[in-house]
Amino acid sequence: MSAISERPLAAAPARHPTSIGQLPGPKESFVLGHLLQLKVPRLHLQLEAWARTYGDIYKLRVARQQIVVISRTEDIAAVLRARPDTWSRPRNFAAIARESDAFGLFAAEGAEWRRQRRMVMTGFDPEHLRSYMPTLTRVTKRLRKRWIAAAHAKSIMDLQGELMLYSVDAASGISYGIDINTLENAQSELHDNLKHMFPMVFHRMNLPFAYWRWLRLPSDIAHDRRIAVLHRIIGDIVAKARERLHRHPERRDHPTDLLEAMLAARDADGSALSESDITGNVFTMLTASEDTTANTLAWAIYLLHEHPAAWQRLVEEARSVLGDEPVAQSLDQIHRLRYAEACASEAMRLRPVAPLLILDAVHDTAIRDVHIPQGTRLYLLMRPGAVEASALESPRDFEPERWLVDNAGALHSPKRVSMPFGAGPRLCPGRYLAMLEIKLVLSMLARDFELLDVSTPDGTPPDEVLEFTMHPVGLHLRLGTQAGVPAD
Ligand code: HEM
Repeated sequence: MSAISERPLAAAPARHPTSIGQLPGPKESFVLGHLLQLKVPRLHLQLEAWARTYGDIYKLRVARQQIVVISRTEDIAAVLRARPDTWSRPRNFAAIARESDAFGLFAAEGAEWRRQRRMVMTGFDPEHLRSYMPTLTRVTKRLRKRWIAAAHAKSIMDLQGELMLYSVDAASGISYGIDINTLENAQSELHDNLKHMFPMVFHRMNLPFAYWRWLRLPSDIAHDRRIAVLHRIIGDIVAKARERLHRHPERRDHPTDLLEAMLAARDADGSALSESDITGNVFTMLTASEDTTANTLAWAIYLLHEHPAAWQRLVEEARSVLGDEPVAQSLDQIHRLRYAEACASEAMRLRPVAPLLILDAVHDTAIRDVHIPQGTRLYLLMRPGAVEASALESPRDFEPERWLVDNAGALHSPKRVSMPFGAGPRLCPGRYLAMLEIKLVLSMLARDFELLDVSTPDGTPPDEVLEFTMHPVGLHLRLGTQAGVPAD
């Protein structure tokens, strides 16, 4: 057994607990603690660097807020499982999300979270996933057409921008049945405003004082303006979905999009969810799905370009599974894209778009033998390979093959250490949908295109920037087409 597994698994309070004060941690200033050292765009990298110096549990402080940072897989899994009763999202998060009309499943707690989770989950069962296939296939074909044109024009594209257009169209179609078509029409008022929302919520959540409740900076005024626009647009979208359900009552049993599914579930169980809960969840679904999926795809495509042997294997799988179809058509084909799934999982292990989760202790508890008082903030570093000794072989290398070995419970299984979708009762409900979208794009790309170049302008590895999700900066994409791919 390795040193990792010999340690106690934690969560239950020990008899003589250590206090947070006894934990190691970087030097702090007297009043502000570590506030000035915690810069959001690189926060996860700073925390990982400190973990390499101070170990897998250390302390920080921001003004009067005590923070504990953990990075050991077993501790993280135990904490994530102990929700919603022992750990919650940061306690200022719900109020900040409400102020921004973005209060939905991600921000809800306790009994309210349980009710919302039930309502939202109905939209993610296998039957619904199947019903989203036509939308996803249509949007993926559109992306292919756009990329064929770019390949013939020898254009240099902004990789992340391209994938955002894709995921915006996919999420809009699936979430509320509207074909926004940013891939062909460029602009969408909804998404132009939406993309600023969660970075602002994340920024406010990490400030020690809610200054904006007293002082409006230009960025706060712009934020208010965006909220008003979004409120109007989403109100309209919800009203239209209600009308559809009224005209087609059969859709209550067979909803065609997530919003219809949520409205039907809400009406069916007579739950006390308000209209603003529905609006908040439309926000939540759109923001939780767009950046995460697009950024995961961007990292995966970058890593595949860096690893030609893996790319070649993906090409062979895509040709064999898709055959004459340019884009996968059925869930059966999606299930057979096992190597594409392994590539996505490996990309998420090395570059998780949520490398940091933040929680607060609901009541006094413990992590291993460390006593954690109620209200303590916990930072969970979700990229264990970056900080802890790993049981995996060559943990820093991109090796999708490791995901194809049937060893789920084993110590050296990547499934044990990698938690890109979180874990426990609040595990991401969109994970199968996300994988579906990622596999559709990777297989479409590998079947018909050559990755001529995926790099930054100066050829250095892309920076990681954390703005609610972690994305690569400055990646360009240049594609060629495989022989025999028609020009339109
Ligand atoms: C590659 C894509 C995605 C990644 C990496 C990702 C990752 C995550 C993570 C790390 C969490 C926090 C889990 C936790 O607290 O344990 C989460 C929660 C959530 N995700 Fe995702 N996600 C992705 C796609 C999606 C999609 C497509 C949707 C919806 C359409 C979605 C909806 C949500 C929601 C609603 C929550 C909150 C769940 C709760 O608090 O109960 N996500 N996701």
